[in-house]
Amino acid sequence: MDISHVDICCGLAWGDEAKGKIVSQFAKSGKYNFICRWGGGNNAGHTVYVNSIKYKTHLIPCGIFYDIPSIIGPDCVVNIKSFFEEVEYLKQNGFNTSLIKISSKAHIVTDKHIEDDIKELKQKQGTTAKGIAPCYSDKYKRVGKRAGEYADLSYFLWDEKLHGAVLCEGAQGFWLDINYGNYPYVTSSTTLPYGACSLGFSPKLINEIYGAVKIYDTRSGIDTDFPESLFDDEELNKIGEVGKEFGVTTNRRRKVNWLNICKLIKAINVTGTTSLIISKVDVLEQVNIFKLIDADNVIIKFDNMNQMKFYIETIIKKECKNIKDIIFSDSPYQINDKKEYFFNTTI
Ligand code: IMP
Ligand code: MG
Repeated sequence: MDISHVDICCGLAWGDEAKGKIVSQFAKSGKYNFICRWGGGNNAGHTVYVNSIKYKTHLIPCGIFYDIPSIIGPDCVVNIKSFFEEVEYLKQNGFNTSLIKISSKAHIVTDKHIEDDIKELKQKQGTTAKGIAPCYSDKYKRVGKRAGEYADLSYFLWDEKLHGAVLCEGAQGFWLDINYGNYPYVTSSTTLPYGACSLGFSPKLINEIYGAVKIYDTRSGIDTDFPESLFDDEELNKIGEVGKEFGVTTNRRRKVNWLNICKLIKAINVTGTTSLIISKVDVLEQVNIFKLIDADNVIIKFDNMNQMKFYIETIIKKECKNIKDIIFSDSPYQINDKKEYFFNTTI
């Protein structure tokens, strides 16, 4: 059977946009034959709720929670020890880990990569210290080691075949992309949908692109676009507290800022996002402060969430021609508490 079509969920900000929640809900719909990761490694962290139980993963795609073959693609990087820890964690929780497959071409993160990351980059760039940049660096120097060379992984190797409906699960986000982000404060992989084609399908097969973003911005790690002074802002600190803005992978406190609407518009247009899913609306509602950053870095304040939603919808519909849907999500468990979006699934 051929691939019928590919849908992609990608982050439109700096990671942590609730992609895990979104992909998990789509996977649950039963509509997909494969769920695939195309980039990054265990620097990512996905939180998903399955039957109201919270799970955290770093590398293995969310398909595993719903008995769907879950692929780690050739442009991903794999820390073998952490991979097996994750497999064990999933197995102990009753999931069928024989569905996990790794491309033999995925590069292996070695202890040396992690040491070098800690020594050279962790302080300077605020990396997750998982050896990501040194590993990709060896890949591009063409001196790296690949999954196919490791006997331990042979059971998990992927035959490079996909068929039916494929959902690709992004890691990190648009502004962490090696090409588009605030270099060098980026990650080392391609976080945009074109990167998903590394899994071995034509870009012509891409159907929907689900863009994930939060209603406020956060940044974990160092970035000159997110100065330390943001930590002095009481309103933003309150949002960080209520929104529990701590890294899943590093447990670092994330910097919080108001949603930068111009950056969001650019990310939507370059990724080709067709459906925009804006999460954590409930957090701003709880804090009861409604602001965003508009053109020329002017902060706009709204009286209530409805006003803010209307403003966002209006500007995005005007500036982003590919957008068919804008969904505001107010639940960590699923896309929306009140309505059943997308294939009528609720958790
Ligand atoms: P690295 O990917 O560990 O090299 O980190 C490079 C930058 O990307 C740092 O600023 C990290 O905080 C950020 N980063 C990497 N992965 C994630 C993620 O999954 N969520 C949020 N930030 C991330
Ligand atoms: Mg994350």
